[in-house]
Amino acid sequence: MAEDLSITQGSKTEQYESLTPQIKGLLEGEPDLVANLANITAALKEQFGWFWIGFYLVKNNELVLGPFQGPVACTRIQKGRGVCGTSWQQAETIIVPDVEKFPGHIACSSLSKSEIVVPVIRNGEVVAVLDVDSDEYDHFDTADQHYLQNIVDLIHF
Ligand code: SME
Repeated sequence: MAEDLSITQGSKTEQYESLTPQIKGLLEGEPDLVANLANITAALKEQFGWFWIGFYLVKNNELVLGPFQGPVACTRIQKGRGVCGTSWQQAETIIVPDVEKFPGHIACSSLSKSEIVVPVIRNGEVVAVLDVDSDEYDHFDTADQHYLQNIVDLIHF
């Protein structure tokens, strides 16, 4: 397992193309879920420097905060609440260019301006969501959706 991440300059696509195989390498041979989720958030933080990156895990019919990088955050989110709870309910990725315009958005930090939430789906069920927040408006697009979905597909739940 590589212990140092190789950080790439370049376009967003180039950054993901470099990072994704490194994340795959980090996960290979490691069965522990928390260890793997922690390293994914750290790798994304190192490469992209986003404001907040973290997982919420479905436990007893609510989302519970899991491994993350960034400021402290809300610990529990109900189904259908906020961007994370809506992504869980719809089992779809949600891109929010301006969080203040998303009805019911849960503001863990006023510094967060835009957001993408990607559900992790196994056997047709959402088992977790990956939430990424930026302190800039309109920061995420379908390229992020594509690559982040590929990254969460690498996780063994
Ligand atoms: N904004 C999210 C809540 C999680 S925090 O941003 C870390 C939401 O509306 O679901």
